[in-house]
Amino acid sequence: MNLKGRNLISPLDLTVQEMEELFGLAERIIAKPQDYSEVCKGMMLATLFYEPSTRTRLSFEAAMLRLGGQVIGFSEPGSSSVSKGESIADTIQTIASYADIAVMRHPKEGAAFVAARRAGIPIINAGDGGHFHPTQTLTDLLTIRLEKKDFAGITIGLCGDLKFGRTVHSLMCAFARYSGVKFVLISPDELRVPEYVLDEINEFEEVRDLRDALPKLDVLYMTRVQRERFFNEEDYIRLKDSYILNASKMKKAKPDLMVLHPLPRVNEISTDVDNDPRAFYFRQTKNGMYVRMALLMALLGKEI
Ligand code: NCD
Repeated sequence: MNLKGRNLISPLDLTVQEMEELFGLAERIIAKPQDYSEVCKGMMLATLFYEPSTRTRLSFEAAMLRLGGQVIGFSEPGSSSVSKGESIADTIQTIASYADIAVMRHPKEGAAFVAARRAGIPIINAGDGGHFHPTQTLTDLLTIRLEKKDFAGITIGLCGDLKFGRTVHSLMCAFARYSGVKFVLISPDELRVPEYVLDEINEFEEVRDLRDALPKLDVLYMTRVQRERFFNEEDYIRLKDSYILNASKMKKAKPDLMVLHPLPRVNEISTDVDNDPRAFYFRQTKNGMYVRMALLMALLGKEI
């Protein structure tokens, strides 16, 4: 794997072969985490979060600390010079003189791309507006792979806010490159997948009803309606509870269905699903840390 010095801005920045190698490394880390506790000693990660985050930021921080490295950064742009009007380009140039690699989340589409052009250190996109979130995709695919072993023949349903959900866009673009994957896109009309993402996939159908689609799915990817990307509160309120997965609906699903969700959830998965063995969303969160350990190692050229 030669990812040293590269950026991860779009899910298409990695070939299938490179993703497979990252999953392989993540699986080796899961099997023997103690072997990796010093591989990034002396390395520094900067986390630049201009938008709220729990899992993504903390899993990156935990990943770097578990590799023996160190972490600096901000999670509240109001506490940095951003609040004085500093540009992304200037902020990133400063950070690059302190850290070896940086992770960035920003409400504007393309922000991480702009940062990467000025940084001189690897930049990882941890979410740029409603566009992409490639490390969530690595998390999602590792979780499916650990369970299903092979992606061929998988039918995945993506449900909820398919318009603004950056995790959905990234996952579709990356997963479409594996042959034999079928997509069932479950959303209200107003929250359909954008054309630029549909252009990347071959086999798909668009439906409105979760209950009807459920029996044929091998994986169900539930998502939150992205309130912060709506132009008005009225539309959000009208659409927010379009889909609610609960224990009663789960009766119609396959016995080996995997329910995934990038989290945070609001109402879209009822808590009565949490103890169902088909609920994978908390395991998915843990896998996120391991795949980010693999990614940090690879971009820093610290593979062993
Ligand atoms: C997602 C995100 O930020 O896009 N969260 C995450 O990173 N796990 C999903 C969301 O906020 O709905």
